[in-house]
Amino acid sequence: MKRTMKTLAAASVVAGIAVGTGAYFGLVNVGADDPHLPAVHAFLSMARDRSIEVRSRDIQVPNLEDEALIRAGAGNYNSMCIGCHLAPGTAETELSQSLYPAPPNLTEVGVDGNPASAFWIIKHGIKATGMPAWGKSMGDPYIWGMVAFLQQLPELDAEQYQNLVAASSGHQHGGGETSMHNHEGQHGSAEAAGTGHHDATAEDHHAGEMAEASHHDSGQAPEEPEPESKPAAKTHAHADGKEHVHAG
Ligand code: HEC
Repeated sequence: MKRTMKTLAAASVVAGIAVGTGAYFGLVNVGADDPHLPAVHAFLSMARDRSIEVRSRDIQVPNLEDEALIRAGAGNYNSMCIGCHLAPGTAETELSQSLYPAPPNLTEVGVDGNPASAFWIIKHGIKATGMPAWGKSMGDPYIWGMVAFLQQLPELDAEQYQNLVAASSGHQHGGGETSMHNHEGQHGSAEAAGTGHHDATAEDHHAGEMAEASHHDSGQAPEEPEPESKPAAKTHAHADGKEHVHAG
């Protein structure tokens, strides 16, 4: 038994060295037009699914039937997601066809059975897949809006989809603004004044913020659902319970 263990350990060391050496000499093809080997694919899918499952299990899901929330989600989805995830009645796009892994067609899968996981994925993104971490620019309530909308999406035809988008206030507080700002207590003002990683476009963004601030004042913002966990002014709690100060 002891001997078998030793042999196994030695074999894994040799295999590890072989994989490392192969990678060093460029044998791994990172091209997005070259699919993973089945074993690598199976491993990565397992790691992805388990990672999301573990991190999203304590997320509290707000009321996703709220119509204002669904409408707000429609506007944001239409502005930021359809290039990769499509909309009812639209054809495949270059992005949807050429990314690897391919972005799922969300008009078919919706939230894929689990709103908490969908929220986690939208907020944090998925490394090395092309799925962005929208939480870098959007507050939780807006992400929940998209989850609420995604839950309805598979039932919508092209016309219903367009009507819902038209009824929304369009693109709210999302779409990759890099400036984080004081908004519903989600982000601290120090970040907006921050160290300037977004200097080049800061002015435009701030102009956008003013416009947004006025929608919110006029009560068109989605009703604030319970976020993932109520953050204090500048801290931000992750599903795994870790809190950190949001550094933008
Ligand atoms: C640049 C392309 C791109 C954009 C833009 C994009 N996504 Fe994705 N998204 C992906 C890819 C690729 C995946 C698959 C990742 C994987 O296989 O793990 C994905 C996965 C997802 C999933 C998980 C689906 C499932 O069934 O597993 C959700 C939910 C999602 N995206 C929502 C969104 C939303 C909402 C937006 C807009 C705010 C958005 N995405 C914008 C590329 C994109």
